[in-house]
Amino acid sequence: MNEKFLKEIDWRMKVFDSLSYPTLVMTPDKIIVSGNQVFFDKFKTTLDDIVGKTCHEVFYNAGQCPNKQCPLPTVMAERKGQSMLYTVTTKSRKKIWEDRVFSPILGDDGEVAYILESVRDVTRVKNLEIALKETEAFLEKIITASPIAIVVDDRYGNILLMNPAAQELFGYSRLEATTNVSAAKLYPEGVAAEIQANLKDDKFGGQGILRSMNTTILKSDGEEIPVELTASVIYEDEEEIAVVFLYNDLRDKQAVEKKLRDTRARLAQSEKMASIGQLAAGVAHEINNPLTGILFYAEMKQAELTGDDPERGEVAAVIEDVNRCRDIVKNLLAYSRQSNPKKEIIQLNEVIDQSLALIRDPKALMNIEIVKEIYAEKMMVHVDRNQICRVVINLVMNAVSSMKGSGRLVFRTYRDAARQKAVMEIEDSGCGISKEHLPRIFDPFFTTKKHGEGTGLGLSTVYGLIQENKGSIEVKQTSEKGTTFRVELPLLLEIEPDRRGS
Ligand SMILES: Nc1ncnc2c1ncn2[C@@H]1O[C@H](COP(=O)(O)OP(=O)(O)O)[C@@H](O)[C@H]1O
Ligand SMILES: [Mg+2]
Repeated sequence: MNEKFLKEIDWRMKVFDSLSYPTLVMTPDKIIVSGNQVFFDKFKTTLDDIVGKTCHEVFYNAGQCPNKQCPLPTVMAERKGQSMLYTVTTKSRKKIWEDRVFSPILGDDGEVAYILESVRDVTRVKNLEIALKETEAFLEKIITASPIAIVVDDRYGNILLMNPAAQELFGYSRLEATTNVSAAKLYPEGVAAEIQANLKDDKFGGQGILRSMNTTILKSDGEEIPVELTASVIYEDEEEIAVVFLYNDLRDKQAVEKKLRDTRARLAQSEKMASIGQLAAGVAHEINNPLTGILFYAEMKQAELTGDDPERGEVAAVIEDVNRCRDIVKNLLAYSRQSNPKKEIIQLNEVIDQSLALIRDPKALMNIEIVKEIYAEKMMVHVDRNQICRVVINLVMNAVSSMKGSGRLVFRTYRDAARQKAVMEIEDSGCGISKEHLPRIFDPFFTTKKHGEGTGLGLSTVYGLIQENKGSIEVKQTSEKGTTFRVELPLLLEIEPDRRGS
């Protein structure tokens, strides 16, 4: 051997020793011919200890290789490097992950002459990987269990994720959402663009963040649902890769708010009615006495006058006007609920026909189509029949004048069993009530009619009469196509025969 060659070998051995992975050299029949220093250090052995032994003797202390997945045969057949992940449990019960890499060294004939086997400890990487997987699984569980609807879009508007709460809110299955639905389809027109603009706008929490926005989403069946939306962009290396959206369904909250508003409005209305009622009652009583006096003297005077006395007509006019005033006072007293109702148990459905028969000027209904949608069963109520008739007549007369004499008038009755109410609705096809008039229609003397055509006492009387019969009245709906008034009275469920009215 010449010196140059020896130097070459020496140099190669140095490279071999300085490999940072423990490495063995073996023949194709797994006989070890060499190992590097790192190998001896790691496995606490020496070259003499292992040379001539087989790989499985050294690693497994076994006569035959117990490892079915050993890639050595593949290395031999394909003459290419292969690796295998291998787990070892140490005596101290620590689990170690090894990546064993087999690299063939080919001879001059192109066949595998030797094989390098190096052992890399990948436990740290493997443990990180496991921790990451566990974290991912944990996050997935949180997202799945979250009662808040969560949707993640990529930046092309595809849906990447929709958690069960969101699937329920939007009405899509996870598969549908991630394969068939584009993010824009989750909103009514224009909303998706608005959200994108707000995400970019600093006003809502800075670039890529949308702190809170009240908006509307579109359910798969077309229903629009009010939500509070929060969103944020996910960046990776400063590149926008996805956007997370959180939705809070506002329907319940809004329903509660509306109920509160309605209750407040109703309270304010009834407070107003009560104070006007007191005033009306005071005025009515004060006027009633002088009216009685005027009437008494006028009638006395009338009795004194002979049939052809020219003053007779004047006195008659006084008496007529006094009677008109007394009517007004009576209505005011009804409104202020001081009219002593005579209650009996009656069938609500019958009241409608009785009232229609009482309308003094039948011509008023001549050009009106009357439709009756009457509840099939009897509905018994404990009320003053005459008062309820006056209610119906007043509502009908108002309806007739709103329709200028011709149109369609619907009477509808039904039972609201859950709330134990007998309900009567009177619907007209008239001009409707404007928004600014609506809060005032039940006020005494409020009228939109010309002087002499309306007193403004109709609905205030109706209101008082309904209150006195323990019921309620409201405008169910009104528009330029017509108005529906709804009257509710307490429904009697069981009727004792001896209390039954005629
Ligand atoms: N069915 C109706 N359609 C449209 N407006 C109505 C209706 N009922 C009542 N109104 C409005 O309410 C006002 C008050 O009614 P009401 O108290 O009966 O007084 P009046 O009929 O004497 O005007 C009416 O002037 C009218 O503006
Ligand atoms: Mg009226």
